[in-house]
Amino acid sequence: MRQRDTLRYDQTLFRDREVFEFAYVPDQLHHRDAQSRELALLARQAVRGGSPESAILRGPPGTGKTTTVLRLFSEIEEATQTIVPVYVNCQQDRTPLAVFRCIFEKLVGYAPPSTGTHVDDVLGSIVRRLRDRNAALLVCLDDANYLHESGHLNDLLYRLLRLSEKWDVRRAGVFAVSSDLALNLYAAVDVRVRSVFHPAEVFFPPYTKTEIREILAARIRQGLYPNVVPRAALALITDIAAEEEDVRVGIDLVRKAAVRAEADGRRTVTRNDVTEASRSIIAPALQTRAANLSESERALLSRIAEAARDGGAEVTSGAVYEAAQEYAPIGKTTYNARLKRLEEAGIVDLLLRTGRGRTREILLRYDPEQVLAACGRPGRT
Ligand SMILES: Nc1ncnc2c1ncn2[C@@H]1O[C@H](COP(=O)(O)OP(=O)(O)OP(=O)(O)O)[C@@H](O)[C@H]1O
Ligand SMILES: [Mg+2]
Repeated sequence: MRQRDTLRYDQTLFRDREVFEFAYVPDQLHHRDAQSRELALLARQAVRGGSPESAILRGPPGTGKTTTVLRLFSEIEEATQTIVPVYVNCQQDRTPLAVFRCIFEKLVGYAPPSTGTHVDDVLGSIVRRLRDRNAALLVCLDDANYLHESGHLNDLLYRLLRLSEKWDVRRAGVFAVSSDLALNLYAAVDVRVRSVFHPAEVFFPPYTKTEIREILAARIRQGLYPNVVPRAALALITDIAAEEEDVRVGIDLVRKAAVRAEADGRRTVTRNDVTEASRSIIAPALQTRAANLSESERALLSRIAEAARDGGAEVTSGAVYEAAQEYAPIGKTTYNARLKRLEEAGIVDLLLRTGRGRTREILLRYDPEQVLAACGRPGRT
């Protein structure tokens, strides 16, 4: 047995599996210095007896909004007692009572009694604690669009931001987060809330491909042993994550591909591991991409997917061209144009192999069965 290539049954590729979990907060946040600084500045207003300022954090999914807030909040907790940062996941807690219960729990250290509790009772306890500590609340309403959808955003913001008028406490700050770019949270709240809610806008743009690669490489260094993910595999994972515009897809692909390699007893992740792992992750984007192709481009794609699924040999542009002649004869120029469209759509890679004339190897970026399904043909059962 070749010791260098294979893994003993008791060996693992993972240095630390936890870094690939969804809830993991990385030590190092890349490319978010500007956003972190701006939010820190808004929070800092509260350090010497003032009040934190509010913000609306906007950006597509997977652009580091939650991570940036969580990191800032843990820094604040380490540095000062005068600000009480409370992170609320509004997907889980969608009513004012649920949100105030989170705040109570953070302040007091245990959950409020579960029965017979009214919002005002919980609020009363919160206010008392804040006064005792002379502290200011800074509440992150993550995925606040859920509060808006359930019709509670107005009421909640009104109660939270006007606490200081009714009671002798410092004004609270609110960081409202939304990944729904079509929704303007500020415009969505009514006038009486807007008169006390003056949020700064903090935008989280999508990561570029280079940024995605750096984030993934850092995560790989942290979570896997050296050389487990070769450069070519990382490049493919980066391509897929960049096309999905979601770094989360990349992190999950790294983990799933490494699990596959490990289960196979190999020390390195192959391109095939990545393609196989992507099966369960990327169906939605592939659907959209296939739907945007013309009918004839989709037909060609189906043929390529069938060849990739059935044939053991590599799929080349020459072989596919000849096979296509049996179904519907087309000219070389048209064929090449269609192939190029499939490449532009991010579904195949065309690799020029030396010494083979002009024929190119066609590599599917997705699992063939998935491609067939996306083209509207049933996969083989
Ligand atoms: N700049 C970064 N550096 C390192 N890891 C990052 C960075 N940005 C995002 N990540 C990682 O990507 C994943 C998604 O990030 P996060 O949850 O913060 O995104 P989000 O903007 O809150 O997305 P959503 O809108 O879907 O909630 C997390 O696993 C996070 O660790
Ligand atoms: Mg988030």
